[in-house]
Amino acid sequence: MNISRNACTSLGVVLLAAFSLSPALMAQEEVSDPDSVAEPAPVAQPVGTMSDLMVQIIYPASDAIFYIATRTPTTTAAWSALEGQTLMLAESANLLMMPSRARDEDQWMRDAKLMLDAGEAAFFAAKDRDVEALIELNDQLYQSCVTCHRHYRPRYGRRRGSGRPLDAPPLDAPPPDARSPDAAPGPTVAPRRVGR
Ligand code: HEC
Repeated sequence: MNISRNACTSLGVVLLAAFSLSPALMAQEEVSDPDSVAEPAPVAQPVGTMSDLMVQIIYPASDAIFYIATRTPTTTAAWSALEGQTLMLAESANLLMMPSRARDEDQWMRDAKLMLDAGEAAFFAAKDRDVEALIELNDQLYQSCVTCHRHYRPRYGRRRGSGRPLDAPPLDAPPPDARSPDAAPGPTVAPRRVGR
C-alpha cells in the first residue's frame, strides 16, 4: 500500500538523519560531560611584543596627556576620546604586569604600578574634564616611563662615546628623539624611536 510505503520511507529518512547526526551529538555530549577530562581553561595570552605595546598603544595614549595643554579637547567627542586614551594607558599597565610579560615579580611590578597610578589619575581627570589636573600629571607620568626604562630598556640612558658596550649599534644608527636628552639607540631599528 502506498501510505505504508511512504511511512517506511519517511522513517528511513529520519533514522538515516539520526545516524548521520550521531557523531556530532556524541561530540557535544563529551564536551558537556563533567566526568570527561576537560581542556585547561584558557589563560591570558599576549599578542603584541613589548615593543608593539610601547609603540602602538602606550606611546600614542601618553601623548594625549603630554600634549593636553595645546591639544585640549573642545567637543564632547574629543573628551570621550581622551577618556579612552587615558583608560588605555592605565589598563596597559595591567598588560605589562601580566605573568607572561612581567620581567620579574618585584621591581618590574613597582615600575608598572607607577604608570598604572598616573594613568588612573589621568582617567579620572579626563572624566572630570580637568585640564589643570592633567597638566599636573605630566611629570608623574613621564617619570613612570623613565623609571622603568632606566631599569629594563636595553642601554637606555647611556650617552654616546662613554662606556658604549661592544654590542652597541653603530654610531650612525638613527638618532634618539630630541625630547630625550639621555636616550641611546636600542638594539634594533624600530619604525619610531622615542626615548621616554
Ligand atoms: C614597566 C616597564 C615599562 C614602563 C612603565 C614603560 N615602558 Fe616603555 N619600554 C619598556 C621596555 C622593556 C622597552 C624595550 C622594549 C623592547 O625593545 O623590546 C620599552 C620601550 C619603549 C619604547 C621604544 C619601543 C621601540 O621598539 O622603539 C617606547 C616608545 C616606549 N617604551 C614608550 C613608553 C612610554 C611613553 C611609557 C610611559 C607612558 C613607557 N614606555 C612606560 C618598559 C616600560
